[in-house]
Amino acid sequence: MAMKIIFPVAGVGTRFLPATKEVPKEILPVLDKPLIQYAVEEAAASGLGDFIFITAPGKEALEKYFAPNAGLDEFLARHGKERLLDDVKRFYGKKITYIRQEQALGFGHAISLAEAVVGDEPFAISLPDDLILSERPVMTQMIEVYEKYRSPLIAFMKVPREEAPRYGIAAGPMLEERVFRIEQLVEKPALADAPSNYAVIGRYIMTPDIFPLLRRGRKGAGAEIQLTDAVVELMKKRQVLGYFFEGRRFDAGTTLGYIETLVHVALRRDDTRDFTRRLLRGLVRDEKL
Ligand code: UTP
Repeated sequence: MAMKIIFPVAGVGTRFLPATKEVPKEILPVLDKPLIQYAVEEAAASGLGDFIFITAPGKEALEKYFAPNAGLDEFLARHGKERLLDDVKRFYGKKITYIRQEQALGFGHAISLAEAVVGDEPFAISLPDDLILSERPVMTQMIEVYEKYRSPLIAFMKVPREEAPRYGIAAGPMLEERVFRIEQLVEKPALADAPSNYAVIGRYIMTPDIFPLLRRGRKGAGAEIQLTDAVVELMKKRQVLGYFFEGRRFDAGTTLGYIETLVHVALRRDDTRDFTRRLLRGLVRDEKL
């Protein structure tokens, strides 16, 4: 099933200031590739190719990133750097629709802006901050579950309980291995109110009936229009599922999470693995001295 996929990238990125004052968070590199490219490559690996970016004023670098740069192409060709040229050209000509969110009114609001482009079909959402490394691309896994149940679906992972206040948290009965029916869902609950340690991760498959609920535009946690609130409304009308994906997620949107992301990606890549291992072992040894 080839769905459209929305990348909401219009957030202010306050947790990464001052770097994100001029450079969009999604352009920050993990080694030599910006975060957004990991997300786009992951979607492409799931067979998705119709991309919708919700961007913001001041984030033009994101739009430019996927557009041809004739000067650079010519330079690389002239210097015989064919591999690099292939790399930068990989996303030329991809179908990307850009929609402007003029004001950062929230993640839910950003999604609502895609209504006309999405039309009357189920669609995917991916947040590039959540970098996921997995053998089977996450959206491939999620589309399989969607095709079985035809219900909106949210990716989940279990987190240490004390971290629950940082996430959307859900609870409900398991329907099969990895799949549960969401019966409760709260955005960033106080620790005492968290119904479980099942945390929402930034991959979704939604159905178009979410749009009227987003349009109501109730302000939720952090005075922003939250997707979670619309999903809670949707749960009154139809079943919404949670899915514990196979793979490991890294929170590249915070400084500590970013360190972890860099190290893990470096340990998995052939050209950086040995160096990174030696570096880390050396550091551990030094620590003992
Ligand atoms: P976050 O809550 O991570 O916000 O948004 P943020 O602005 O990116 O980062 P911080 O919290 O200020 O550091 C979740 C996703 O929703 C998008 C963000 O770009 C991110 O991918 N978003 C958020 C929008 O597109 N518009 C908004 O108004 C808010």
